[in-house]
Amino acid sequence: MEKILLKNLNNPGGHTLDNYIAGGGYRAVKEALKLGHDHIIQMVKDSGLRGRGGAGFPTGLKWSFIPKEVYPKYLCCNADEGEPGTFKDRGIIEYDPHLLLEGMIIASYAIGAISAYIYIRGEFAFGAKRLWEAIKEAYEKGLLGKNILGSDFSIDIYVHRGFGAYICGEETALLESIEGFRGQPRKKPPFPAVWGLYGKPTVINNVETLSCIPSIILNGPKWFSSMGSEKSPGPKLYCVSGHVNRPGLYELPMGTPLREIVYNHAGGIKGGRNLKAVIPGGVTAPMLIEKELDVPMDFDSLAKIGSMLGSGGVVVMDDTTCMVKAAYIINRFFSHESCGKCTPCREGTHWMTEVLKRIEYGEGKPGDVELLEGVCANIFGRTFCPLGDGAVMALRGALKNFRDEFAYHVENKRCAARGGFGAIGVWE
Ligand SMILES: Cc1cc2nc3c(=O)[nH]c(=O)nc-3n(C[C@H](O)[C@H](O)[C@H](O)COP(=O)(O)O)c2cc1C
Ligand code: SF4
Repeated sequence: MEKILLKNLNNPGGHTLDNYIAGGGYRAVKEALKLGHDHIIQMVKDSGLRGRGGAGFPTGLKWSFIPKEVYPKYLCCNADEGEPGTFKDRGIIEYDPHLLLEGMIIASYAIGAISAYIYIRGEFAFGAKRLWEAIKEAYEKGLLGKNILGSDFSIDIYVHRGFGAYICGEETALLESIEGFRGQPRKKPPFPAVWGLYGKPTVINNVETLSCIPSIILNGPKWFSSMGSEKSPGPKLYCVSGHVNRPGLYELPMGTPLREIVYNHAGGIKGGRNLKAVIPGGVTAPMLIEKELDVPMDFDSLAKIGSMLGSGGVVVMDDTTCMVKAAYIINRFFSHESCGKCTPCREGTHWMTEVLKRIEYGEGKPGDVELLEGVCANIFGRTFCPLGDGAVMALRGALKNFRDEFAYHVENKRCAARGGFGAIGVWE
């Protein structure tokens, strides 16, 4: 497949404005300014583009929810990329920042935004620097600021650096954080399209989503929807990490089978070992086992088998992996990142982690697996935002396929997967 999102990944200097323009960059903005707001929204709707931030919500439909008569309006680009196993937005930001800016200018024009924000996770210092440089270049060329390219459309883009909280990737916590408040989710409804940044209509889109926009404007919605799956068209970035020979970032048609991603593109399992499990879409996505590997990597196909595409972070685990340890590490992350606003998540993720820790350290008690299931049941569906549910889905995914391994740990105070070595003290 011709690269659309990663065409500048291995192009030294590809991130500069001159190189971007030389490769046809910013032609889509000129085209968009001629098309008009409604036409662009219709094109994005027709393309079938679905948000790449995790939920797969149709992008054109989201834009169409913005009320016309309320001012001002805002666009926020979600560049928080906090989901473990995910490094796709970083690839675009660091190597093709103008692709993102061009997508943001078009999106802002389509929804009538006067300002746009890029909320970038604090750890991405180099990415923020690349964005600042690109924004400066764009202002100098008249692509940002007042009356861009001589049109009656004006737009400013700001970079807002986060401070390392995973929850600030949740769209309403992100808005709170930009406004200078503690990053905690807001109650929905009202949704950000109605009550967003500073209480005004706001569209929040992921970096990869916005970076698809220029190519849709230039090549048309039919071209876009001819790629990938019927209900999830377009290109998709898959981040592959873990026990594979070629970990990395791969741009492939949406719906590429997981087996092809792991064995062809990522070169198969390291050292010729056997695959034990794969997390298909960031640690929130329930893990899959070998017999499920033919699933097309798109939103609906993964949902059908009880998992999710999420952020496209594929984490591969070979047969030496201890699933108790994996579940403990994942849960410890959720417990640490719980914002504390609601009790089931704040307390539940903490206790899940404590129980997993004692099982991992050979101190598990009879009934601990059932206790974990009980805690899961008390969290799921009872939390303020999806973080709590995500923690449950991750643990339930591990228990569904590897319950025996958890029970073995409790009973024998040691790990079956690691050749019988005791778990105590092996890992901190
Ligand atoms: C706990 C949590 C963390 C999230 N983190 C991110 C993130 O880092 N990046 C992102 O784009 N979306 C993240 N999301 C999803 C956003 O809330 C939102 O759905 C997304 O930015 C919308 O963009 P899209 O329509 O382009 O997918 C997160 C959601 C939750 C519940
Ligand atoms: S589910 Fe967790 S992260 Fe979400 S609001 Fe409640 S405590 Fe905060």
